[in-house]
Amino acid sequence: MSDSIRVTGGIGLRGEITVRGAKNFVSKAMVAALLGSTPSTLRNVPEIRDVKVVSSLLELHGAGVDYDHPSGTIDIDTSTLVSADAAHIAEHAGSSRIPILLCGPLLHRLGEAVIPDLGGCRIGDRPIDFHLEILQKFGASVAQGADGLHLTAPNGLHGIKHTLSYPSVGATEQLLLTAVMAEGITQLENAAVEPEIKDLIDTLQKMGAIISVDTDRSITIEGVTRMHGYDHTALTDRIEVGSWACAALATRGDVLIHGAQQRTMGTFLNVFRKVGGEFDVRQDGIRFYHPGGDLRSIALQTDVHPGFMTDWQQPLVVALTQAKGLSIVHETVYEQRFGFTNALNAMGAHVQLFRECLGDRACRFGQRNFKHSAVISGPTPLHAANIEVPDLRGGFSHLIAALAASGTSNVSGIGIIDRGYENFRDKLTALGANVE
Ligand code: EPZ
Repeated sequence: MSDSIRVTGGIGLRGEITVRGAKNFVSKAMVAALLGSTPSTLRNVPEIRDVKVVSSLLELHGAGVDYDHPSGTIDIDTSTLVSADAAHIAEHAGSSRIPILLCGPLLHRLGEAVIPDLGGCRIGDRPIDFHLEILQKFGASVAQGADGLHLTAPNGLHGIKHTLSYPSVGATEQLLLTAVMAEGITQLENAAVEPEIKDLIDTLQKMGAIISVDTDRSITIEGVTRMHGYDHTALTDRIEVGSWACAALATRGDVLIHGAQQRTMGTFLNVFRKVGGEFDVRQDGIRFYHPGGDLRSIALQTDVHPGFMTDWQQPLVVALTQAKGLSIVHETVYEQRFGFTNALNAMGAHVQLFRECLGDRACRFGQRNFKHSAVISGPTPLHAANIEVPDLRGGFSHLIAALAASGTSNVSGIGIIDRGYENFRDKLTALGANVE
């Protein structure tokens, strides 16, 4: 498949699409299957590259993975597992950071695990210090090898009390996936409580785990000695829904997204309405549309749930280039998530970046020389350009900009978008976009 797409913009996206399960849940639920001694079934699984990556990582460890694309059903048999070496894991993982989440389950099932050098999207340092600290506290020994980190648990894994300095999604998942079968009780404070994490907790409970979640970001897990497989339907990908909604807004279009769930999108829907977009929540999804007239500028900051997700920020910024007045967006989750705005400026947008925290509160990046606040002045007509996409969300946002721009843009490096957007080429065509 070609790695670039020609987009002739200026056409409002109109029509209906379906969005299936959340990438950032499905990948973790597949890892959770490693904890079960009987097979698991995950439903509503999208055909995206990250699912292929996790499938191949599970297979590398001896699991049987059977994915039926049309129905979105994946069966995972982890009754027999084997160890894998770092080079093979790295080869199968590609740029994914998923291998680190395999550690807890593999330590429980095999007594050892390996973490190769990790990639992931180029959006800041993305360290793994929280993960390693948690694993070591549970009792894992970590040794540096030439090819990566080698973990063992000579004395087993035991429950811990832990407070995260920041409510990291991955670190919360790491703790959950390790604590469920660790001996004794684990208590986590300042946990991430994203809907994807809630769905992971539901999945683990189906497998036999005992987990209680309090209203104050604290989670308590009572370790069990044995877990079994699950049958679970993944929640819808709220990042993908938000991305298509912003594409509808930026192109003055009207898109019905089947599968979109209001309960996971509340903060996004508020912002969408404030900037002048309209939506109808229906039984089978949500219709997002531009009602005509001017869009309005807004001041917002990204945050952990229930705040405005960092992954919605990039698509929204493209729509804000079409809003009247000055918008301020303060990115508080990742220190370097505005790199994609260079391409927007080259297309005629006016986005200025600042090192200062321009939100109503200071964040971790304020005094650290990161350009993590953006001021967008609009509306600015966008014109076509040749763009090389930088990362998953930035890449989709460039696609939105090309769809909103006049003229024909060439967007290359779009393979990365397949990591998290199922069949996006077909969806673009279904919505009437002029793409080749
Ligand atoms: C998950 O990444 C998602 N990825 C990200 O989506 C998402 O942007 C992010 O959560 C926030 O919602 C997956 O679920 C696969 P974090 P994760 O740990 O878990 C710092 C996408 O496009 N941190 O919550 O890696 C980190 O640098 C992706 O779908 C440490 O300092 O995010 C960041 O500033 C991109 N040390 C903050 O915490 C650590 O050990 C939040 O990261 C771990 C994280």
